[in-house]
This record gives sequence, structure tokens and C-alpha cells, in this order.
Amino acid sequence: MRKKVLVTGGAGFIGSHTIEGLLSTGHYSVRVLDNFSTGHRENIRHLMGNIELVEGDIRDMETVEEAVADMDSIIHLAALPSVPRSVKAPLTSNDVNASGTLKVLSAAHRAGVKRLILASSSSIYGANMAQPKTEDMLPAPVSPYAASKLAAEQYVGVFARTYKMNTLSIRYFNVFGPRQDPNSQYSGVVAKFMTSALAGEPCTIFGDGTQSRDFTYVGNVVSANIAALEATGLHGQPVNVACGERHTVIELLDTITAALGSPVQVIRAPGRTADVLHSLADCTLAAEVLGYRPTVAFAEGVRQTLEWYKTTYTG
Ligand SMILES: NC(=O)c1ccc[n+]([C@@H]2O[C@H](COP(=O)([O-])OP(=O)(O)OC[C@H]3O[C@@H](n4cnc5c(N)ncnc54)[C@H](O)[C@@H]3O)[C@@H](O)[C@H]2O)c1
Repeated sequence: MRKKVLVTGGAGFIGSHTIEGLLSTGHYSVRVLDNFSTGHRENIRHLMGNIELVEGDIRDMETVEEAVADMDSIIHLAALPSVPRSVKAPLTSNDVNASGTLKVLSAAHRAGVKRLILASSSSIYGANMAQPKTEDMLPAPVSPYAASKLAAEQYVGVFARTYKMNTLSIRYFNVFGPRQDPNSQYSGVVAKFMTSALAGEPCTIFGDGTQSRDFTYVGNVVSANIAALEATGLHGQPVNVACGERHTVIELLDTITAALGSPVQVIRAPGRTADVLHSLADCTLAAEVLGYRPTVAFAEGVRQTLEWYKTTYTG
């Protein structure tokens, strides 16, 4: 019998890859809850015959109750996933990312769902400058987005301790890969750089470009999400999932330029409010809890992603 998994935010970038990963195992049937606010129907069009779709908002309790009914587990990815967006609209970020998570947890508990995996974020480390980031470090959010994810993590912990659910927060570090939306002002840097470079348009570097990230190919995150559905010993703890390498924004652009084989024009802009300077993960705990190992390294991930944008955006 296949286990039933609800993927909230399944029409998004990470969600659509997670669904593909789940279906490819043959062990799971998938229901999606999404309101298509930042996700796209196009991301799951090829999966529609194999999934059940509940279209609606995680802020609406009735919708959430309908979505969690009869599920064995939940991978909770639905969120407004951007630091600059949260700086502009902190209340909305909190409503979706923190209160929305509480609604999903609460409905899940009442429906008897035993397991929930939360998509959390490296941004919760914020102003804590120590590297690499380990889960026992004190969080120090510098954006409303990070604060909302930290609040969500706290609820995930509470539902493990108080209601004995098997829960886990996975702190993703700068995920990139095919299908990441490049078209919003809030899009991630990899998607923006690649589509600008392919269109022959300039790439904008905010600040001096020496800010660094543990850029993580989406396939690595998917493997962690799926492992979390079967792992034992989940008690609401957070685990880092990343590549374990740090690259500056300038290095990212150089890697893209090298893969493209032609130079890219650069525009400089002032550093952005609430951006973290450096971020590198220690993934030891994810190895212990999930058996996690990154299987696609940064440069290979960049190559695969660029190929996808090439095919999709330039035909
Ligand atoms: N991409 C990254 O680098 C990264 C890093 C750390 C954490 N995360 C987290 O991973 C998760 C997925 O991110 P993503 O990059 O795939 O973003 P995404 O925007 O592509 O996916 C988010 C999905 O959630 C849906 N959604 C948003 N608000 C909703 C609501 N109120 N009700 C129902 N559905 C809603 C969107 O329509 C979208 O399909 C998010 O929780 C994000 O915070 C992402």
C-alpha cells in the first residue's frame, strides 16, 4: 500500500521536484495543496494525472482540514519565500509562514496525521556570524522572513513535544535548480543570473559580490525531504541541508560565465537590507538523522540548471 503524502506548496520550485521524487519511488501517493500565489500550474502540469490537487490557501482552516484528511505524512513547503518580500510586507509573511504553519500542524494533529516535515531556512542564523552553521547555534533573524520561519520551527518543536507528532524542520540553504522562477523581483540569484545572461542582459550584483552562500542543488533537498518521511527519531529538531561548500556571488557568476562560454555584463547596486553576508552549512546532523549526503555538487548543479534555462528560455 502506498503511503499518502500531502505536499503543501507542491506547485512551487522545490515542491514540484519533491513530488517527482516521491512518485519515482513508487511508494507514495501525493496530494498537493497550493494557492498558486508564487507557484505555477506549469510546474506540475506533467504530474496532473498522478496527483490529487487541492487548490486553496493554507491560511484557510477549512481548506487545510480538507487537504490533511487521511494523510500519513505532510511535507510543508507552502510559504512566501523571500527576504525582500518580507521586508515590504512583514504581516503577510507572518500570516502565511508562521500562522499558516500552525494551522497545518493543528489540522494535521486533529486529523491524526503522524508526521510533518517543515521547509525551514538558513536565514534563521542571520546575524550570527559563526561558520559553518550548526543547529545548536543561537538563531539571530535579520528579516521578517527569517523570524517567521523561526516561529514555524518553534511550533514544529511544540507539536512534537506536546502532541507527540514526528516532526522535523529542514533548514535549506539557497536552493537552486530547474523551474526556479526567475521572473519575480523576489527571485533567487541563480535563476536571475542565468536568465539575464542567456538573454544577453546585464546581471545585477548587490553589494560588492563577496557575500557567500552554500548554494544547494534542488535534487539534494529532494533526497532529504524523502528520507525524512521514513527516518526514525524525529522530535521537532532542526537539521541543516546544503552542499557544504561556500561560493561568493562573484564565483557564481564566474561559474555561469564559464559554463556559457561567453562574457556577461555586470551592473553594481547597493547591498540589500536584511541580506545575510555569509552562509555555510555543517550537515553532520542531517547525515545522522536522515542519512543525508549531497549527491550533486555546486558546479554540476549549475551546469544542469543552465542547460534547463537554455532549453526553456531560449528554445
Ligand atoms: N528556494 C530556496 O532557496 C529556499 C531556501 C530555504 C527555504 N525555502 C523554503 O522552501 C519552501 C519552498 O520554496 P520554493 O523556493 O519552492 O518557493 P516557491 O515560491 O516556488 O514555492 C512556494 C509554494 O507555496 C505556495 N504558497 C504560497 N503561499 C501559499 C498559501 N498561503 N497557501 C497555499 N500555498 C501557498 C506557492 O504558490 C508556491 O507554489 C518555502 O517554504 C521556502 O521558504 C526555500
